[in-house]
Amino acid sequence: MASVKVAVRVRPFNERELSMDCKCIIHMQDNKTSIVNQHQTLSHMTPKEFVYDASYWSFDHTDSHYVSQLDVYQDLGKMTLDSAFDGYNACVCAYGQTGSGKSFSMMGLADSDQLQGLIPRISKNLFCTINSGQCQQTTYRCEVSYLEIYNEKVRDLLRSKDKGLSENLKVREHPKTGVYVQDLSQHTVVNYDDVDELLTRGNHNRTVASTQMNEASSRSHAIFTVKFCQAKMVDNFPSETISKINLVDLAGSERADSTGATGIRLKEGGNINKSLLTFINVISTLADMSGEQTKKQYVPYRDSVLTWLLKDSLGGNSKTVILAAISPADVNYAETMSTLRYANRAKNIINKPTVNEDPNVKLIRELRAEVGRLKLLLESSGISAERALLQVQSEERLVEEIGVGERRLNDLTNEWKYQKDSEKEVTYVKSGEKEEKFTKI
Ligand SMILES: Nc1ncnc2c1ncn2[C@@H]1O[C@H](COP(=O)(O)OP(=O)(O)O)[C@@H](O)[C@H]1O
Ligand SMILES: [Mg+2]
Repeated sequence: MASVKVAVRVRPFNERELSMDCKCIIHMQDNKTSIVNQHQTLSHMTPKEFVYDASYWSFDHTDSHYVSQLDVYQDLGKMTLDSAFDGYNACVCAYGQTGSGKSFSMMGLADSDQLQGLIPRISKNLFCTINSGQCQQTTYRCEVSYLEIYNEKVRDLLRSKDKGLSENLKVREHPKTGVYVQDLSQHTVVNYDDVDELLTRGNHNRTVASTQMNEASSRSHAIFTVKFCQAKMVDNFPSETISKINLVDLAGSERADSTGATGIRLKEGGNINKSLLTFINVISTLADMSGEQTKKQYVPYRDSVLTWLLKDSLGGNSKTVILAAISPADVNYAETMSTLRYANRAKNIINKPTVNEDPNVKLIRELRAEVGRLKLLLESSGISAERALLQVQSEERLVEEIGVGERRLNDLTNEWKYQKDSEKEVTYVKSGEKEEKFTKI
C-alpha cells in the first residue's frame, strides 16, 4: 500500500499577468502552500494553507529557494525512475489550468538542456543508469509509445503517416494484462537519441489550439509511456521484471467558458471536461474509499478514455505522483483554489503497487520454493509435525517428487534463457555496452 504523492508547483508571472499588474497570492514554505484571496476585506484576508508532499517555488529564479527543472527531476523524476528499476509501475500526472506550467514541467523546452522537463530527463537517466554498468549481468528492453486523447478519441502520435489512419484507436481490456490501446505503435529504444527523435515527432503531431489564455495551449491529454523490462540470473535462477512508466500531461482543467472558448473549441472543452470530470470523480471516490477500508465503492474508470487508460495509476498497481501546476496571480484565484483543493483530496488515494514479475519467472520461483520445502521435509529428522499431518508419503515418494521438481525447474530455466537470448538479438540493451544497437532480424 502506498498513498499517491502530491506536489504543487507555482510558475512565474506570464506576460499577460505582468501587463495586468497582478499580485502574487501564493506563498510556499517547506512542503506547505498558502493562498490569499485578495478580494476579501483586509480583516478577512487570512491565507488558506495546504500541506503536500512537496511545494515547489518556481516563481522567481533569483530566489535562493527557487526550484529548477533539475530540482524537480531530482525529487519526483528520480523517485519515478527508482520505482521502475525496482520493478514497479510508476506514473507522473500533471494537472492544472491552461497555462499553469504542466507541459513545462513534463516536457520543458526542447532547445535548452537546462529547461528540459521530466519526460526527457527520466528517459536520459534511464539510459545513463543502464549504461553505467551498475548491474553487469542485467539485460534491458525499453519500448515507448506516445498517444493523445482528443475529444475522447485516442490518436497515436508516433505512427508514421504511410501506415494509415490512427486517429481513433480502440481501448480494450485484457483479463490478464489489463487495459491497452489496440494497434498503438510501440517503439524499441536503445539509447536517448532514439527517445529524443520520437519525442520530437510526437510533440510535432500534438494537437494544439490557441485560447485567449495561452497561445500554444494544448487542448488534449497526452500520455508518454515507457515499458521497461529487466532480465538477469540471480544465484543461477532467472529474475525478470516489467515496469510501465506513464508520464501524463493533462489538458487544462478550467471550465470551457473561462478562457473565452467558443464554437468548436467549446465542444472540445466539453469533452475535455468530460474526461477531467471523470478524473475528478475517480479521485473523489478513491479518496472516500481510503477512509473506509471495508467499504467497496464503484469507481467510474470506464466513463472516460483517460481514466480507463490510467486505471492502474489511480488506486491500482502503480507508484503515482500528481503534480499540480498553478499560476501565482490573483486573477486566477478561483482556478488555483480549485486545483489546490483537488490536489489536497488526491493525497488520500491509496495505491497497491506490486513488483511486476514475469509470469514464467514467477512460476520458476514458486517451483523452486516448493522443491526447497520438500528437501527440508526430507532432511528433518524423525517425524515432523508437518510430515505427520501430510501423512507423508514414504521417503522414496519425497525423493521422487524432488527429482521431478528439479528437472522441471531446469527445463523452465533453460527455456527462459533460450527465449532471452533470441530476444536479445532484436531488442535488448546490455548493461555497460554503451550506445550499442542490436541489429533487427
Ligand atoms: N516553472 C516555470 N518557469 C518558467 N516558465 C514557466 C514555468 N512554468 C511554465 N512556464 C511558462 O509558462 C507558459 C505556460 O506553461 P505551459 O507549460 O505551456 O502551461 P500548460 O501546459 O499548463 O498549459 C509557457 O510559456 C512556459 O514556458
Ligand atoms: Mg500544455
